[in-house]
Amino acid sequence: MGKDVIIACDFASAEQTYAFLDLFTEEKPFLKIGMELFYAEGPQIVREIKKRGHRIFLDLKLHDIPNTVKKAMAVLSNLDVDICNLHAAGTTAMMKGALEGLTRADGTRPLLIAVTQLTSTDQESMEQDLLIHEPIDQVVMHYAKTAKNAGLDGIVCSPLEAGKVHDVCGKDFLTITPGVRFADGDKGDQKRVMTPEAAKEIGSDYIVVGRPITQAADPVAAYRRCVKEFVD
Ligand code: C5P
Repeated sequence: MGKDVIIACDFASAEQTYAFLDLFTEEKPFLKIGMELFYAEGPQIVREIKKRGHRIFLDLKLHDIPNTVKKAMAVLSNLDVDICNLHAAGTTAMMKGALEGLTRADGTRPLLIAVTQLTSTDQESMEQDLLIHEPIDQVVMHYAKTAKNAGLDGIVCSPLEAGKVHDVCGKDFLTITPGVRFADGDKGDQKRVMTPEAAKEIGSDYIVVGRPITQAADPVAAYRRCVKEFVD
């Protein structure tokens, strides 16, 4: 799996999404489809976008009992997505069930990535609401190791954590990192950000980039700049 830029398609409708995708006449970017678009448009949006030739990271962050997640993952696998994800907090049994559900009759399956602690969770909310008292960076690394031991392919993490995740879980364990901004760009609501170049340096495998591309005056040029800085 080579390094790649994944565009976060955080649009509210299929119409907006296709208007954006129509701008790309030469390349077929890897796309992330999240809950908003999937719940608005249903699985048909995934089929349509696959038909247009894009690879898809379906970011639905499953978290339920192992049997339910296994069956849901079988449905997503049939949609032919390339990457899907779940919460490592669902525990090893759930992650193993997910892998079983994803694996097709011919042995192939989409990549499966874990979410550790969401970046919206801080030490205080983790302690108060979840009764987890270890330092949050250790909790993230523990979840990463648990995901690896369950057989998953990688985790979503900050580009700032990607190097450590590779040290702990091996360089083949994938790091998919949002929170990427151009050096001269707007940070928006992201706090801990990194440029595509720095994310490449530190060893991120995939960067997930939303607004720096989707809201750019020229999204195709912004995408190409991202690829140039991160991949080339
Ligand atoms: O627009 P922006 O580049 O900030 O988009 C980043 C994408 O990555 C969004 O879809 C966001 O939900 C997602 N994401 C994130 N931080 C995380 C996990 C996911 O920004 N920790």
